[in-house]
Amino acid sequence: MTKKIVALPGDGIGKEIMDSTLKIMAEIMVQEELDFDIQAFPFGGAGIDQEGDPLPEKTLTACKDADAILLGAIGGPKWDAAPKRPEQGLLALRKALGLFANIRPISVPDAVIHLSPLKEKNVKGVDFIVVRELTGGIYFGEKKRETDQASDLCTYTKAEIQRIIRKAFEIARTRNKKVTSVDKANVLATSKLWRETAEEVAQEFPDCTLEHQLVDSAAMVMIQRPKDFDVLVTENLFGDILSDEASVIPGSLGMMPSASHSESGPSLYEPIHGSAPDIAGQDIANPMSMILSAAMMLRQSFGMEATAKRIERACDKVMAAGVLTKDLGGTAGTLEFTEAVIKELRI
Ligand code: NAD
Ligand code: IPM
Ligand code: MN
Repeated sequence: MTKKIVALPGDGIGKEIMDSTLKIMAEIMVQEELDFDIQAFPFGGAGIDQEGDPLPEKTLTACKDADAILLGAIGGPKWDAAPKRPEQGLLALRKALGLFANIRPISVPDAVIHLSPLKEKNVKGVDFIVVRELTGGIYFGEKKRETDQASDLCTYTKAEIQRIIRKAFEIARTRNKKVTSVDKANVLATSKLWRETAEEVAQEFPDCTLEHQLVDSAAMVMIQRPKDFDVLVTENLFGDILSDEASVIPGSLGMMPSASHSESGPSLYEPIHGSAPDIAGQDIANPMSMILSAAMMLRQSFGMEATAKRIERACDKVMAAGVLTKDLGGTAGTLEFTEAVIKELRI
């Protein structure tokens, strides 16, 4: 049966890495005779430019109707003063689709272990997942601005916490059965409720262990002993910050994919990084974050484990052969890396 995939290239390097990924998808579709209907729609700054809105109506309708969504990245200085910023489109899309569970895997391909800024013995074997709550917390609370005062309200309901903690345990069950819940329960009311709720939900998963870490200390442990983590679950803002920090372990944001899931309905797959205006348009962005997001889509939305693995292995092999983009100290361009992956997929 045809799978409907919506592609939202977005802005900056989003367009370049989406281009790469669609080339890889085209190759896979031919090789495996897959029936994917992939349609691109304007989103983010491109949505503002083309339709006057970062999340145009027809883009949202197409997303709701899709089997899965691939998103590049949005934002850039051009729209920083726009009445509605590209980022608002992204938050609105996550909310409209109920994408509460953002899965950000952290591992270090063997081929680039020596490139990590951290000590090799601490990096080899790192394999954990950040489960970031994505539709609640300070991102979505009431915002107020007066001339000399501003506030952002952070709210979590028990039900919102329960479902994300449950998701973390469900994932832990398929792995090393350890959940680390990260909060700021020594200060924040939302974190106190978070911690109590995590304890309650843990009773449903007696085969797993739960530990709590305060976010400031967790930020340190992540660099010092990243192998301590299996599944790290946390609220929206902490998850945003900690997952960018986690990208330092493999050595580049350009290798970091993610998946966002709702209770039911299409999932969305996107790199964790942004539109990288500093390198946009130069054919130097690392497309792996987007290619690996597509691999996550094949695995998690379509159950295509073998194909997902094939893509991941092809990327690893290409890197092992020394084809590296600039963020990893190499000289390969975005297209050159992409062509090398396609060549590897043909072997
Ligand atoms: P960024 O993630 O775009 O870039 C941070 C740094 O990482 C930059 O030096 C960039 O060159 C580098 N980088 C990121 N992706 C890379 C890749 N694939 N290959 C090589 N290098 C890469 O963060 P920023 O510069 O703070 O934000 C730029 C814009 O992106 C802002 O408008 C921000 O709001 C937006 N943003 C969007 C998303 C998203 O679309 N999901 C995520 C984060 C930030
Ligand atoms: C991310 C981004 C977004 C976030 C921004 C662009 C709204 O940083 O996906 O990590 O903070 O969630
Ligand atoms: Mn972020």
